[in-house]
Amino acid sequence: MLFILHADHEQNCSTNAVRSVGSSRVDPYSAVSAGVGALFGPLHGGANEAVLRMLRRIGSKENIPAFIEGVKNGNEKLMGFGHRVYKNFDPRATIIKKACDDVFEVTGVNPLLAIARELEKIALEDEYFIKRKLYPNVDFYSGLIYEAFQFPPEMFTVLFAIGRTPGWLAQWSELIRDKDQKIARPKQIYTGERQLTFVPASERWA
Ligand code: COA
Repeated sequence: MLFILHADHEQNCSTNAVRSVGSSRVDPYSAVSAGVGALFGPLHGGANEAVLRMLRRIGSKENIPAFIEGVKNGNEKLMGFGHRVYKNFDPRATIIKKACDDVFEVTGVNPLLAIARELEKIALEDEYFIKRKLYPNVDFYSGLIYEAFQFPPEMFTVLFAIGRTPGWLAQWSELIRDKDQKIARPKQIYTGERQLTFVPASERWA
C-alpha cells in the first residue's frame, strides 16, 4: 500500500530530476540515481525521516505549543505538512493515517504517534496553518509506519524510491521515445544590474 501511495505522480522534484538528467541520454540507472538524490531531500521524500527527528525532539505533548510557536515565528518548519500542489489536503495522508492504526494494532503503539496526532490536531486548528492551506502530507505518518516495521531511517528513502521507480522508468522510457524531446535546458533570464560601479582589480589592494 505504501509503495502505491508513494508512486510517481506529475512533475515533482525527483521526477523532474529523472527527466532532466535522462534528457542527456544517459542510461536509466543514472537517470534514476538523479531522482533518488532529489527524493532524499528533507523537503521532498526525506521529509518522513525529518518528521521522526522532529517528533523525537518535541519529546512530549506538553512541548507542542512551544514548538508550534517556533514554526509560526519562522524558526523552523512543521515537517510532513504542506505540499507544492495539494493545497486542500493530501488524499494520500487520509489513507496512511488509517494504515497507521492498523499497523500499530499489530506492532504496539509507538509513543511518537500520540505526539504526531496532537501536533496534527493543534496545527489544523491554528490560524497560521489554515491561512496557508497547510495540511499533513504523505510523509507525516509514513516514517512512523516504516519505523514500526523496524526499518532504519537511512532506508526510508530507499523504500520510497522502490515505489517511485516504475513511474520514473516510465517517464524515462517515454522521454527517450519522444522524437520532439530535446536535452533539458531551462531558459535563464538575467535580471541583475546592468550598470555597476566597481573598483578595478588593479586598484583594490592599494
Ligand atoms: N511548516 C511551516 N510553514 C510552512 C510549511 C511547513 N511545513 N510549508 C509551507 N509553509 C509556509 C511558508 O513558510 C510560507 O509562509 P509565508 O507565506 O508566510 O512566507 C507559506 O507556508 C507558503 O509556503 P511555500 O514555501 O510557498 O510552499 P511551497 O508550496 O513552495 O512548499 C513544501 C511546499 C512541501 C516544500 C513545503 O510545504 C514544506 O517545506 N513542507 C515541509 C516538508 C515536507 O513535508 N515535504 C514533503 C512534501 S510531500
